[in-house]
Amino acid sequence: MLNEAWLLKEGIRREENLLKQKWGFFAQMYHGAEKFWCVDSKTKEELGFIAVQENGYIFFIAVGMNRREEGIGKYLVNSLGRKYDCITCHVRTTNMGAIDFYEKIGFKKEELVQCYYEDKGDALYLVYFPDLE
Ligand SMILES: CC(C)(COP(=O)(O)OP(=O)(O)OC[C@H]1O[C@@H](n2cnc3c(N)ncnc32)[C@H](O)[C@@H]1OP(=O)(O)O)[C@@H](O)C(=O)NCCC(=O)NCCS
Repeated sequence: MLNEAWLLKEGIRREENLLKQKWGFFAQMYHGAEKFWCVDSKTKEELGFIAVQENGYIFFIAVGMNRREEGIGKYLVNSLGRKYDCITCHVRTTNMGAIDFYEKIGFKKEELVQCYYEDKGDALYLVYFPDLE
């Protein structure tokens, strides 16, 4: 599914100027992560996926632009169940939609990390404790 993941990511990068990871890094991280996909049971269309490292760090989450705000992102995070005591992620400080999303499902802002991204963009480090929900 790496190619499908890359196509979804690149579509979002072109349209929304987000998710700027380069191919080599993306492929390496994707292979090393646990992935959960959401697939439309009727059309078999891939709607989105989450990729998580073994320490509960979300390397990647994305939902196709035509299927946003239907609960798919929340479903993907919930698909991690109680496997991790703590789930974490970084999100660009300018990505207001994703910050709102994470906060709605229970993530808390832990730290501002300046110059986190390759292009020197800042990140928020967010933390979520599933057992407290
Ligand atoms: C962030 C993202 C995964 C959210 O997926 P989604 O399927 O649209 O989210 P959901 O429908 O599960 O939303 C869950 C909650 O967050 C809210 N939410 C989702 N996107 C939002 C937005 N852009 N602005 C405000 N609230 C938002 C929903 O309204 C919902 O709230 P509710 O529970 O009160 O109804 C999706 O917007 C995306 O793929 N964005 C581009 C990639 C990206 O930025 N990834 C994160 C990088 S760190």
